[in-house]
Amino acid sequence: MPELMVRLGARSYPVRIEWGSLDSDLTACVESHLPRGNGALLTDTHVGPLYAESVSKGIEGTGRKVHVLTVTAGEASKSFEVLTRVWGDMLRAGLDRGSFLVALGGGVVGDLGGFVAATYMRGIPFLMIPTSLLAQVDSSVGGKVAVNHPLCKNLVGVFAQPRAVLVDPSLLKTLPPGEFVSGMAEAVKVAVALDGGLFDAIESGAGAIRKLDPDTVTALIHRALERKAGVVALDEKEETGERTLLNFGHTVGHALEATGGFGAIRHGEAVAVGMSFAARVAQRNAGFPPASTARLEGLLRALDLPFRLPSWADPEALIGAMRPDKKNLRGALRLVLPLRIGSAEPARDVPEETIREVLEEMKPKG
Ligand SMILES: NC(=O)c1ccc[n+]([C@@H]2O[C@H](COP(=O)([O-])OP(=O)(O)OC[C@H]3O[C@@H](n4cnc5c(N)ncnc54)[C@H](O)[C@@H]3O)[C@@H](O)[C@H]2O)c1
Ligand SMILES: [Zn+2]
Repeated sequence: MPELMVRLGARSYPVRIEWGSLDSDLTACVESHLPRGNGALLTDTHVGPLYAESVSKGIEGTGRKVHVLTVTAGEASKSFEVLTRVWGDMLRAGLDRGSFLVALGGGVVGDLGGFVAATYMRGIPFLMIPTSLLAQVDSSVGGKVAVNHPLCKNLVGVFAQPRAVLVDPSLLKTLPPGEFVSGMAEAVKVAVALDGGLFDAIESGAGAIRKLDPDTVTALIHRALERKAGVVALDEKEETGERTLLNFGHTVGHALEATGGFGAIRHGEAVAVGMSFAARVAQRNAGFPPASTARLEGLLRALDLPFRLPSWADPEALIGAMRPDKKNLRGALRLVLPLRIGSAEPARDVPEETIREVLEEMKPKG
């Protein structure tokens, strides 16, 4: 079944996942889900030259006019400056409340584009066409959209669901290998936190996944997004707890990104280190079996993901950066800890001493 539904009542939307879907399904997707007005196609300087022309032709083939807006590739584009520029470009292009936006790119373009669409003239409909593995297994679904504040990643954002998501795994052929690896971290995250069978599938399919075997990669994306869609349907705004589990690996991950300066480490790499950290804390505090930590770290190694701290990381700075984490309700340091592979829970009150010890243990050897 190439199509999933994110079930959110009147805001439910389909996620189409198929090798080649950009050629086969774009027109139908635009016709069914976007208004007849004109729109913006937001992309970045890497993805735009590869795919923007064919996507805009596809959209224009439906009788809609589209303005291509290109931001510089990279995390730095999730900024107030870029946001202001994009809003201005849309205004100058004459886009109004009847317009739409299509976000064509990785997680950066998706987060920025979703936020632009959610705020421009109090909100216009948008379509996600994720092009990185990270965006295809995770960020394009669920409606968390945001830009960064210099002091805190994703500080300024809203929940805004797209009208539809069109996933074409064949676009991953042009994704640089390091970005592919980074995206795998979010798939491993979903597997450890929610789906032991997915973990098995990633373990046994690691070789085929890295060779971009169409069936294996499409199945991986489908299963990861199916899990994510299930969690989002239960807990869209991260209020009842289910969605919190998707923050597994992200407390230390975000602290690494923040202390390294955004751009020093890829999001997925930071999450990989964060998952190893959470597993080691859980091993001490929550009975997570040491053999499972070894299995997780073995898989991260097989995928070329890091599981030790980078040499520049400073445990004290990381602890400091973890405190203002948005997940820390009323100041208590809160981590998502695995119970076993395929199941996790939010844990309160992990002693700072344990955190410090585990961070010290994770410093690079030699
Ligand atoms: N909203 C959410 O739920 C959510 C979840 C996870 C991550 N995120 C956010 O996602 C962002 C990271 O996303 P990302 O890793 O996709 O980063 P990204 O968007 O910067 O993409 C990574 C790099 O790959 C390039 N690229 C993307 N697709 C390509 C393709 N098909 N061919 C060639 N190059 C391509 C991009 O231009 C960029 O240089 C972070 O800002 C993170 O906070 C959001
Ligand atoms: Zn993430």
